[in-house]
Amino acid sequence: MYNFDKEINRRNTNSIKYDRNNIQNSRIIPMWVADMDFETLPEVKEALIKRAQHGIFGYATPTNSYYQAVINWMKARHDFEVEKDWIITTSGIVTALKLAVRAFTQVDDKIMIMKPVYYPFDASIKLNHRTVVECPLVFENDSYTCDFELFEKTIIDNDIKMFILCNPHNPIGKVWTKDELYQIGTICQKHHVIIVSDEIHMDFVYKVNKHIPFYNVDESFKDFSVICTAPSKTFNLAALQTSNIIIANEELRKLFNEEKDASGVTDPNIFGLEACEAAYTYGAKWVDELLEYLQGNIDYMNDFLKTRLPDLKMVNPQGLYLIWVDMRALGMDKDELEDFMLNKANLWLDEGYIFGTGGDGFERFNIACPRSTLKRALEQLEKAIRQRG
Ligand SMILES: Cc1ncc(COP(=O)(O)O)c(C=O)c1O
Repeated sequence: MYNFDKEINRRNTNSIKYDRNNIQNSRIIPMWVADMDFETLPEVKEALIKRAQHGIFGYATPTNSYYQAVINWMKARHDFEVEKDWIITTSGIVTALKLAVRAFTQVDDKIMIMKPVYYPFDASIKLNHRTVVECPLVFENDSYTCDFELFEKTIIDNDIKMFILCNPHNPIGKVWTKDELYQIGTICQKHHVIIVSDEIHMDFVYKVNKHIPFYNVDESFKDFSVICTAPSKTFNLAALQTSNIIIANEELRKLFNEEKDASGVTDPNIFGLEACEAAYTYGAKWVDELLEYLQGNIDYMNDFLKTRLPDLKMVNPQGLYLIWVDMRALGMDKDELEDFMLNKANLWLDEGYIFGTGGDGFERFNIACPRSTLKRALEQLEKAIRQRG
């Protein structure tokens, strides 16, 4: 049994989650950026130590055993058949999104995203001088859906060239079903829209939900889509900057590789390669136990909110370790809410509004932490809300 209850001090470790903004108040609990407060599995640590002890850190390249580990993981966990030639390593998925934007579209082209969504989608488009077009998700009866008529109309009206899908969807915790993905795919196919499917959270799904890799929905979807995967969320390896972009279509792969070459960020990180291979080779049991632990955290938070803070409505997560909470009943505007969370509840969260349309009045909690930390965080929140009256 792995011990996810262990509290580990992360302050002053160059951790963006703990050390950014130089926040000195040690009562503030960081629950914002999506990395976990858990140690990764022992085999990953051992692989990294072994590599460090080798002492030579020249240019790196993925070996056959690296590719095989990626292929095996995708097959075993997701019944996803990946061919070695389809895999392109990049130094992260946000990097890959930016490369995809440049590789598959032209300046001023329109790219569609569903809001609220992981905010770097928006930035990846705008920073590359393309235009963001939104298709807002519909929030009804505590869950989110896509209005497919609106989805298609938005594509037609704006001559959309590319759509960035988030599956599972951050921040709302939605795991798209095969039927929904089929509708997304067929509409995009009909209107010649390239799909970039960001599946970084693929390993975090709960209960009856199942992650469906976009290529598994329909064979023909391989012709016009790209799947972004990484071990970084699953095994807490974000700083090792290694992801695997899967592109079956030769033409798209060529365009992507050319853009990667042009950008100059081509050499993989040697420690990232080692860690990814070890994680995908030895990590299945660790992930199974992690998911059980996270489900325990989700249940704990759900019970806490229901019984002690019933005005706050948690959107029941089908996937991810990020919990999306509707706080509109508190009646605060976005600045008040942000100030209240940080300075009264002493919680450093991701504010709903940063995820765009539909995010105001929501907060995103990262619950990938020991239960003791989660308990403390929710008690701090309860106390602050009671004091407010
Ligand atoms: C949907 C999504 N994509 C990408 C990333 C970041 O990926 P990377 O660190 O590989 O750039 C995150 C991190 O939270 C995410 O939630």
